[in-house]
This record gives sequence, structure tokens and C-alpha cells, in this order.
Amino acid sequence: MNLPAYYSQSIWQDTNNPDIINVLDQRKLPHLVEVIQLKTHQEVVQAIQEMVVRGAPLIGVCAAYGMYLAAKEAAKESTSFEVFINKAAAALLASRPTAVNLAWAIHKQLSAMSDKDTLSDKIKAAYDCAQNIVDEDVENCKAIGKFGLGLFKNLLKNKADKQLNILTHCNAGRLACVSYGTATAPIYYAQEAGLPIHIWVDETRPRNQGFNLTAWELSLAKVPHSLIVDNAGGHLMQHKKVDIVIVGADRITKNGDVANKIGTYLKALAAADNNIPFYVAAPSSSIDFNMENGIENIPIEERSADEVKYITGWDGTGDISVRIAPVDSPVSNYGFDVTPARLISGIITERGICAATKEGLCSLFPEKF
Ligand code: MRU
Repeated sequence: MNLPAYYSQSIWQDTNNPDIINVLDQRKLPHLVEVIQLKTHQEVVQAIQEMVVRGAPLIGVCAAYGMYLAAKEAAKESTSFEVFINKAAAALLASRPTAVNLAWAIHKQLSAMSDKDTLSDKIKAAYDCAQNIVDEDVENCKAIGKFGLGLFKNLLKNKADKQLNILTHCNAGRLACVSYGTATAPIYYAQEAGLPIHIWVDETRPRNQGFNLTAWELSLAKVPHSLIVDNAGGHLMQHKKVDIVIVGADRITKNGDVANKIGTYLKALAAADNNIPFYVAAPSSSIDFNMENGIENIPIEERSADEVKYITGWDGTGDISVRIAPVDSPVSNYGFDVTPARLISGIITERGICAATKEGLCSLFPEKF
């Protein structure tokens, strides 16, 4: 995995100016690799809203940098530091509703700054906090990768044809995190260990994160994979062509319910009907320890009708968008769904693998219960 910085890391500080945050413009991938520079907290808000950056852990990391930039901006404002920073926190918090990593990172930043007296100490605290969140995300993904690798090895022991077929939905890869990814970390470790793996990549309409992002990542890492349309998973499972489903999470509740990209629930239903293990890979920053029931309580983002009515692709010279539905048809565009805990075989976290239950999560994170 010897890749240039912008391939191996999806967000990084500029080497000449740490107050410039570089991100890959994920709206352009896989056709164009473009870097966008974020210099103010408002630019971070916009990058999250417009999905320049996306994926729960990366949204959290980006928001942490946004808070650091806001702290620096506050120094130049006439309003009090507290007023400015709280306004910035509110704007970042409102940028996308479902991934809990956003609130997690903002609250971490607010608490890191709260007991500092001087402006320069507050700025330094915000800088250190952002760095810690970045480092922690990388370490957490690596740990998830190692635990997931053990799972893959066990599954392979019982496979006569010695090829492990893994299905994933959306992009829970290194582009959705700082590096490694959550659902993809075990895949990258398995590839490095020489395990015979093959990945089914769901297209993930309407924004096609599977085709545009997961497939791009896997191609770069030379991981064997095949693209499938969103509705193909059930058929493949019935014909024993899937050994395990592994997805990421935008929010996991205390009872083990999981919000993830729309369509995840249908994959979990098909997996349950075919006795195929369905795992969720996520760091503890994606667990909402203040929420019990995911189906009742997780806020589900509704996005623009144009994402459904139009499809965007590359015509050989640039991105083009074409309409694929009648002009007047109304649209309903939910970005996420909630997979109930009972359909989940286990949750792979940085501390190990647990049952998708309150007891399971409590066994790994007792300090949160
Ligand atoms: O709308 P997106 O692209 O931000 O949705 C992303 C997902 O649903 C991912 O699967 C999830 O954030 C897990 S990322 C490790």
C-alpha cells in the first residue's frame, strides 16, 4: 500500500501551512482526482453539506478541523470567543444530520477548549484535539482491520473452494475515513496477508458511492472485485456467492441498531434469509451511547430530488448529468436506513467484535454504560 498522500489519506494539513486543510473532492472521483483546500469553518460546513467529503468518520475529522479553523477565526472577530465558537459549532452540527461522528467531534473540541483561559491556549487545544482525532481514527481503523481479518480467516477455514466472497454497500473505505476505512480495513489486511478474497461492490444509488469510490479504492489496491447493481445482492446470496456482508455505520445505538446508507437494511434482510453473516465495522465514534432505539430515534437525512432524477457520469471529456425520470414525478430521497440489531451478526470495533446488543456493546465499552 505505497500510495501518494492523497491516495492513502483522504484529509491532510498543508505541509507549508497547517491552517489549510486539504481534502479530495469526492464528487469528482473516480474520473478526476482533485484536491480542495479548506481555509475557514464555513468552507468546512459547505464541504460536508455538498458531499465534497462524506462518510461518517471523515465527516467527524473534517468537523474537528473546522472547529480548529473557527478558533483561529475567532481571534480576528470582535464578538466574544464563546459566542463565535458556539455559532461555528452549531453551523457544523447542522451540516448533516445522520452520522453521529459529527456531534462527537464537535463536542470533543468544545470540551478541549472549555477549560483553557487564554485565546492561544484555546487555539492550541483545538489544534491538538483535531490531531488526536485524526490519529485515533487511523488507529481505530487498523484495529478494526485486524479483528475483521481474524473473522475472514475463520470463515475461510470452512470453505471448500477457498475463496471468500465479501459483499459491501456504499463506501466505508479509506475515503470515508482518514485511511484504511472501516469495512475495507479487514479487506486491505486480508489482501496484504494473501487471503483469496473477492468483493461484490454495490453501485449504491443515488450517488453511486460503491462504483465511484469503493471500486476506485479497490482498483488502486488491486483487490479483486466485481461491480453489481443494488438489486443483485439477494440473488447472489441465494446462489451461495456471498460468504459475508460487511458494511460501515453512520450511527449505532446502544441496543445495536445501525443507520447506514440507504439499502443496507435490504442487504441485511437478504443475508438473514440466506444464513449469511452480516457484520458492521465501525469505530466507537460512530456509537451514540445516548440513544436507545435506532428505528425510532435516528434522524434520517432527506436529500435533493435531483439526486434521484438525474444520473451523473463521465462522457470522456467531463462529467455530464442526464435526467432518467419524468420531469413532473415527485421524489422521495432518504439517504439512510436503519438495520435492526436482530439482523446483525456482530459489530467490529477498535476494541474487538461484539454482539449487536446492549450487553455486547457494554462488554467492550463498559465506561459508557
Ligand atoms: O452519504 P454518505 O456517503 O456520507 O454515506 C456514507 C455511508 O453510509 C457509509 O457507509 C458510512 O458513513 C460508513 S463510513 C466508514
